[in-house]
Amino acid sequence: MEDRGISRAVIGRLPRYYRYLGDLSEVGVERISSNELSKKMRVTASQIRQDLNNFGGFGQQGYGYNVKYLRAEIGKILGLGCSHNMIIIGAGNLGQALAKYSSFERSGFVLKGIFDVNQSLQGVSIRGVPIRMMEELEPFLKENEIEIAALTIPKSNVSEVADLLVKNGIKGIWNFAHTDLVLPKNVIVESVHLSDSLMKLSYNITRYKEEHGE
Ligand code: NAI
Repeated sequence: MEDRGISRAVIGRLPRYYRYLGDLSEVGVERISSNELSKKMRVTASQIRQDLNNFGGFGQQGYGYNVKYLRAEIGKILGLGCSHNMIIIGAGNLGQALAKYSSFERSGFVLKGIFDVNQSLQGVSIRGVPIRMMEELEPFLKENEIEIAALTIPKSNVSEVADLLVKNGIKGIWNFAHTDLVLPKNVIVESVHLSDSLMKLSYNITRYKEEHGE
């Protein structure tokens, strides 16, 4: 799939550039050449130049990249220039773990609400955000401008909840349930499957062992 003529592979690499540049900025690095960045990130300098040229380059011959500026520009491309209000539906193991992770806020993802059906969770707060019951979801969405909903509920309940979210104007769904969502085109779904990553790891371990006769 292409986005403004930019391949998905390039878009997929941008968060990593953003992360590395953030780390560099934190330790006071003001500028960096594509060669230096390439050593740190273990990708070729030509790939870095090619990737960033998709967006107009940002580099200057003989100067390299201005770290803060490049990070800000990549942030804008990733839509991180403004904050995104988010809710979590499903306050079980995964939902609570996500809610506890405060660093999302540093990238502009602000947790505004947590919802569940389990009465015993009512009133429990995570980082000052109370867990509310699902009956409160619709009025909450009417009163608050929420853009993103993370779905950390069993897959059997996902489609019904997703329909309710779409009906109430949610723009993006961060789907952790292992099921594919079919939603109107104006609602963007990003599915995360940690097990896919684990399987990739398993594949690479197996391949390494085969290649090295272990
Ligand atoms: P859990 O059982 O600890 O939590 C699920 C929570 O959802 C419970 O608190 C339950 O009361 C609530 N819930 C159930 N139906 C609901 C509804 N209709 N509306 C609101 N809340 C509802 O389960 P866990 O371990 O947190 O996993 C949650 C989901 O995430 C599962 O679908 C699981 O398969 C998936 N998962 C996905 C991973 C990934 O990498 N994508 C990794 C781990 C879990």
